[in-house]
Amino acid sequence: MSTYGAMHSGIRNSIFCDLRSDTVTCPDDAMRSAMAAAEVGDDVYGEDPSIIALENRMAGLLGKDAAMFVSSGTQSNLCAIMAHCGRGDELIVGDAYHIYADEAAGASVLAGVSMHAIPVGDGNAVSAEQVKGAVKDDDPHYARSRLLCLENTVGGKAISLEKMRSPAQAAWDAGLSVHLDGARFFNAITELKCTAKELADCADSISVCFSKGLGAPVGSILVGSHAIIARARRNRKILGGGLRQAGVLAAAATHALDHHLSLLPADHNRAGQLADALHDLDVGNVHSGTNMVFFTPNASQHNALHAHMEATGVRIGGQHPTIRMVMHRDIDDAGLEAAITAFRSFYA
Ligand SMILES: Cc1ncc(COP(=O)(O)O)c(C=O)c1O
Repeated sequence: MSTYGAMHSGIRNSIFCDLRSDTVTCPDDAMRSAMAAAEVGDDVYGEDPSIIALENRMAGLLGKDAAMFVSSGTQSNLCAIMAHCGRGDELIVGDAYHIYADEAAGASVLAGVSMHAIPVGDGNAVSAEQVKGAVKDDDPHYARSRLLCLENTVGGKAISLEKMRSPAQAAWDAGLSVHLDGARFFNAITELKCTAKELADCADSISVCFSKGLGAPVGSILVGSHAIIARARRNRKILGGGLRQAGVLAAAATHALDHHLSLLPADHNRAGQLADALHDLDVGNVHSGTNMVFFTPNASQHNALHAHMEATGVRIGGQHPTIRMVMHRDIDDAGLEAAITAFRSFYA
């Protein structure tokens, strides 16, 4: 972690390279200044100019009609699911995707929507054939298949436009809508070298997070047609997510779009360098993509590795058996070097 990040993070100063997630970044002085200078108003009344500007910018960038700023990716996904589905409907989703695996079954608990999970393939995509096979017949015994939920990136892997388009088309052909959880949408388009619109064209609604690789402290946005966003606004209200003078948060997101997007290739590059260093050590399975590295150490060394890394100021993910490490804007070359040196010294 950069010195600035360590100073402002409240974590123990001895940890200067926090690789657990790209959500651990701290707003720097420039972002804080942008937040302090933000023009604000009551967003529930539609009067926050900073939020309106961000929503218009994102809708334009992704080539859709409208957008809605929300507090989190989870809330954005849920607002979208409730906009596409009614109670008793079913969504189809990859079994590794956040909506199915990591959102506390909110779609079922709060929206009354059942989830039909299909196993993701090697590259974390779902196929058109899987989608066709999962769509239920119109039969009173069955839930109504209404929505396909895609994700990109998934576990750091960017899924190609072709592999996004073909399941989306299968869903549309069967009369379903398509939602894309693009928590790391900008990491995906950076890796795919495509435009925001090209990826957004694979879905009817898209959720994008500013609080992951882009380094904002909070905030996500849901983008879609006027009709979807109008329904989603009602859903956000139902979920207690109406915002008031949250232009200070939109200003952080806008600052991230202006200044941090261009830093994503460096994060991806550092992840590649860490993965290469781990490959060279040849001490466990390694895979990586965009800003993430996954490493499976020998099970008997797992705890000792963690302790060693902490002792050297490098914090890695706590997952078992495969540890996740994520590059982000608070990790510079010195942080990367520290992480590689710590791994090498453990395995020396
Ligand atoms: C792919 C994906 N979708 C959605 C979310 C949820 O975002 P939030 O933590 O802002 O609710 C995350 C969080 O890491 C995520 O990785």
